[in-house]
Amino acid sequence: MMSIFYITTPIYYPNAPPHIGHAYTTVFADVLARYHRLIGDEVFFMTGNDEHGLKLQRAAEKKGVHPKQFVDEMADVYKKYWELLDISYDYFIRTTDDYHEKVVKTAIQKLYDKGLVYKASYAGWYCVDCEKFYSPGEYIEINGKPHCPIHKKPLEWLEEETYYFKLSEFEDFIIDVLKNKDIVYPRSYALEVLGKVEKEGLRDVSIARPKERVWWGIEVPFDKNYTVYVWFDALLNYISGIGYLEDMDRFNKYWPNVHHVIGKDILWFHTVVWFSILKALDIELPKKLLVHAFLINRGLKIGKSAGNVIAIEDLIDRYQDSDGVRYILMRVFNMDKDVDVSTELFDSIYNSELADTLGNLVRRIGVLAKKKLGGIVYKREVDKELSTSIVETLNKYNEYMEAYDVSRAIQVVMDLLRKANAYVNLTRPWEKMDPGKELYSLLETIRASTTMLYPIIPKAASKVSKAFGYRIGNPSEYVIGEIERYNIVDAPILFRKIKQ
Ligand code: MSP
Repeated sequence: MMSIFYITTPIYYPNAPPHIGHAYTTVFADVLARYHRLIGDEVFFMTGNDEHGLKLQRAAEKKGVHPKQFVDEMADVYKKYWELLDISYDYFIRTTDDYHEKVVKTAIQKLYDKGLVYKASYAGWYCVDCEKFYSPGEYIEINGKPHCPIHKKPLEWLEEETYYFKLSEFEDFIIDVLKNKDIVYPRSYALEVLGKVEKEGLRDVSIARPKERVWWGIEVPFDKNYTVYVWFDALLNYISGIGYLEDMDRFNKYWPNVHHVIGKDILWFHTVVWFSILKALDIELPKKLLVHAFLINRGLKIGKSAGNVIAIEDLIDRYQDSDGVRYILMRVFNMDKDVDVSTELFDSIYNSELADTLGNLVRRIGVLAKKKLGGIVYKREVDKELSTSIVETLNKYNEYMEAYDVSRAIQVVMDLLRKANAYVNLTRPWEKMDPGKELYSLLETIRASTTMLYPIIPKAASKVSKAFGYRIGNPSEYVIGEIERYNIVDAPILFRKIKQ
């Protein structure tokens, strides 16, 4: 059955180019988008940049350019990186787009009219890297001074008149949602937030900044001395990007099927704050919030602030193409646990799985088919054991992909490919006069495997399908023995081993 699948990434702060951590989220979203396109869904995949706020204002100041010029240039930089990583987004949203600004102004005005916004003074600690206020108990102390728990940098003391959003009014609603609705995945993250809300309650949050401090933002419609707080602005991208206000048919079509992919650092904003804003605007809550853990390096979350960034271009250089990088990131992908990045681990995944298992099988079978059968392999009965394995693998793969467990989905395909390599060694088709049955069985295994791996390594999968003469189809409708005749025109070397 065809359904609609709307998937988003967080919109990134373009104060610096994206790094491996941003790639982790974006590739994951891309894999889900590609999988859903394969199974016939109508997909809308949106990523983009979060272009306002103090962090960007300062980044532009440092460069000596106007923030608009700065974010314009950075939008191209991000698009270039996503192209390098073969990200198949349908739309790239920018919070400086005018339709988005209109949605933000209308939304904050609506909350104001509903009596959910009031003016009062604020004093507290702020992390510019997170663009977030931290209350006592949330921040850590280093040498007696408040520091950001994520960036480990000193917080800035802020005292100002501001506008508050009455988040406290939504406490019961939020508790009910986190307890009873199946939105946040994995569920442990819902329970984590729930525990915090039940323990501490919900305090009202600031949703504006005085212009004299943060002028780079969307003007508050009911007070021109203020700009809208960057998180309120940013979260609304998910609705403005699909035509909220401008094209309500389009909005109504996609919104009920939205899947937000985020890292756990922005869980609070995407549950408590976002759900409350939506409720206040009379909009349904998202269908799913898919949360993942961090990539870490030397014990710290990888990030510019920690100074332990791994550049996307270095990864692409090392693993030769986007496919290698995409595969490795998805192979280690973990929603619950932080993953320690290490070159040894990445190299060994690349070498043993992509080069030795998939690459080797494709190359061997391609060469054999050409040599032994002139490249033409007719349909034969598929080896029983292999055919059982193919069916089992497809079932598990589809089940895992539906459960957003890309890493497990990859591993079952690798198991199948290992079996196929063992079958080659066992049956020794190179010694046979007519290895038609063996080669056909192996080609069917390769076809199934590349179909399943297509969302992760689209270039390599397409290369094999072209060289061997078949189409990548729907993995949930794969039929063994469907191909009457394979025509092998090439035996590609997909992945060259790297020396460790
Ligand atoms: N602009 C906000 C998001 C607004 S969404 C309405 C923001 N931007 S960010 O540039 O800081 O990107 C944060 C996201 O990048 C994380 O939630 C996560 O998806 C990804 N990651 C950045 N570093 C990461 C790791 N080291 N590990 C895993 N993901 C990481 O927050």
